[in-house]
Amino acid sequence: MSLGPMGSESGNLDERLERILFDQGKIRECIAAMGERITADYAGGSLTIVAVLQGGVLFLADLIREIRLPLRMDSISVASYHGGTTSSGTVTFHQNHLPDVEGRDVIVLDDILDSGRTLAAIMERIREECRPRTLRSAVLLSKKVERAVLIEADYCGFEIGDEFVVGYGLDYGGDYRNLPMIGVLKREWIEGGI
Ligand code: IMP
Ligand code: MG
Repeated sequence: MSLGPMGSESGNLDERLERILFDQGKIRECIAAMGERITADYAGGSLTIVAVLQGGVLFLADLIREIRLPLRMDSISVASYHGGTTSSGTVTFHQNHLPDVEGRDVIVLDDILDSGRTLAAIMERIREECRPRTLRSAVLLSKKVERAVLIEADYCGFEIGDEFVVGYGLDYGGDYRNLPMIGVLKREWIEGGI
C-alpha cells in the first residue's frame, strides 16, 4: 500500500482522479468506431500498425481487435515529456531500429496529440527512412491547442481541452498507465501542485 503526499493511504488508484473524462465503455465504443472506419478505408488491403511506446500500447491492443484486415504490428519508442506534465520540446528516439515497413500501408498510432512534435517527428522519420507505400496516423486523444508543429491525425478518437490527463496508457512520471479510464489527476498527486 502506498502513502499519499500527506502521508495518508492512497486507497484505490481511481480515487486519485479529480475527474473522469472517458470511462471504459466510452473508450471501447470510440475504438470500435475507429476500427470500423479503418477496416472500410483499407478494404481489400493489409496494414502495419506502428504503435508509439509506451503510451500507445493499450490503444494498440484494443484497436487491432476492431480491424478486420490482415495486419502486422510494430512499435517505436520515443520520449518527449521526460517525466513532467508539459512537453520538453525535444523528441528522443530510443532505438536505432525502425520498423520494416517498406512498400506497406502504415498507420502510426499514439495515445495523444498535443504540441504535435512527437507525431510529426515520427511520421517524418518513417516516411523518409522506411519508405512505406502510404502513411497515416491515429490518436486516441487530441488536445485542442495551438500546435508547435502543424499536424492533425488522420484518425482521432476524442478531442479534449488543454489539460493533463492520465490513464489508458497515458502516464504521469511513469504511473497511471494501467487505469482503465482517462481522467485528470487531483492536484495533490502532481508534484508541486499544492
Ligand atoms: P506532443 O509531442 O506535445 O504532441 O506530445 C505528445 C506526447 O506527449 C504523447 O505521446 C504523450 O506521451 C505525451 N503527452 C501529451 N499530453 C499528455 C497528457 O495530457 N498526459 C500524458 N501524456 C501526455
Ligand atoms: Mg507518448
